[in-house]
Amino acid sequence: MPKIRQLIANNSAWAKRMLEQDPDFFNNLVAQQTPEYLWIGCSDSRVPANQVVGMAPGELFVHRNVANQVIQTDFNCLSVVQYAVETLKVKHILVVGHYGCGGVRAATESCCHGLVDHWLFPIKDIYREHHKELEAITDEKDRIDRLCELNVIEQVGNLAKTTIVQQAWDRGQDLAIHGWVYSIEDGLVRDMEVTVRDRASLERIYHFDD
Ligand code: CO
Repeated sequence: MPKIRQLIANNSAWAKRMLEQDPDFFNNLVAQQTPEYLWIGCSDSRVPANQVVGMAPGELFVHRNVANQVIQTDFNCLSVVQYAVETLKVKHILVVGHYGCGGVRAATESCCHGLVDHWLFPIKDIYREHHKELEAITDEKDRIDRLCELNVIEQVGNLAKTTIVQQAWDRGQDLAIHGWVYSIEDGLVRDMEVTVRDRASLERIYHFDD
């Protein structure tokens, strides 16, 4: 069987299995989606959002891009965040990076990768901001892994800086932003313990509270 036909065959076997487990599974999904979580992760094929946190279809709203970034002019990501926060009213946003991220690594290199160098540019700025800590790490893999952590922490802050998130907090909406890093080596997520639930940790210039 040609490879692509195999995917269609896999799909029909999956749908059949789901119906065997719960005859109303698809009917319930059609009726509504009420996920409590928005996942913002890397596009890397080794970090499948739903599987990593054991969630079924309908339980996780997902946005993925190269190196799990939240950029203030990225209407794709911000549209997802706005829909998740204002319409779905998710209670948690999970920013999930991963160790050994090729995007983060590429941002540390001087060779030209093409368009993606522009996309990854903000990670160079994170490196610059933390260059003393990073350059004290002699092992290159460890240095990239630390930059993966710092990138997640930065993206949690970037989310908190959006008008979307701050307006939700002002409405009294229960919304927490978490920063995690997933390890492909052992399948486990590490909580960076940088969860934010209000704008208190943001420098004044980033406040939208008038
Ligand atoms: Co990655």
